[in-house]
Amino acid sequence: MTRGKFITLEGGEGVGKTTNLEFIRDYLQRRGIRFFVTREPGGTPIGEAIRRLVIDSQGMSARTELLLMFAARAQHIEEVIEPALAKGIWIVCDRFTDASYAYQGGGRGIDNAVIRFLQEWLQKGLEPDLTLLFDAPVEVGLQRAKGRGQLDRFETELPAFFSRVRETYCDLARQWPHRIKLLDATQPLEDVQAEIARHLDSLRQT
Ligand code: TMP
Repeated sequence: MTRGKFITLEGGEGVGKTTNLEFIRDYLQRRGIRFFVTREPGGTPIGEAIRRLVIDSQGMSARTELLLMFAARAQHIEEVIEPALAKGIWIVCDRFTDASYAYQGGGRGIDNAVIRFLQEWLQKGLEPDLTLLFDAPVEVGLQRAKGRGQLDRFETELPAFFSRVRETYCDLARQWPHRIKLLDATQPLEDVQAEIARHLDSLRQT
């Protein structure tokens, strides 16, 4: 049985992950690939309960936030991601560990070494086969996020927080060029999606 591929989507707020997720869904469906779409924090009943806690609570410390992200991830990996990949099912996950480096590391200033320790302990070598990183200037993304209505606890952070998030994502893309593909989300949607299709075409060949 060939293992399924693991694809993650990353980026700041309002960069168009949801729209492009629909494109990926359509791409995989048309090619008869068995896949499952999920998200972090979330993806399991326990993970979704953690998501509500982490997104809505006031006064949560950065360390609590980091540990809850990894708690949700632990459950997600054991209950959903690993079993699916082992059955040959592809996983498309809206955010994964790169988000912890970007938001809790870059945004909140938690030491990377702590995040790496949790990552290694939990993931035991599990890494996405492809990460699509949607990049747009902070102001563009925040404007789009505001247009969607009520802002959550993360979306009300100051622009400087999102600049650090964006910089960290870009650093990660430089560090892992084979896995992380940076997409300019300010391009016309057809161009972004043509690039996504190219990355998915290459992934199918591996
Ligand atoms: P979403 O906006 O993609 O639904 O994600 C929810 C929020 O959770 C988003 O603002 C980023 C944040 N997040 C982290 O801070 N760390 C993480 O590890 C993950 C997975 C998400």
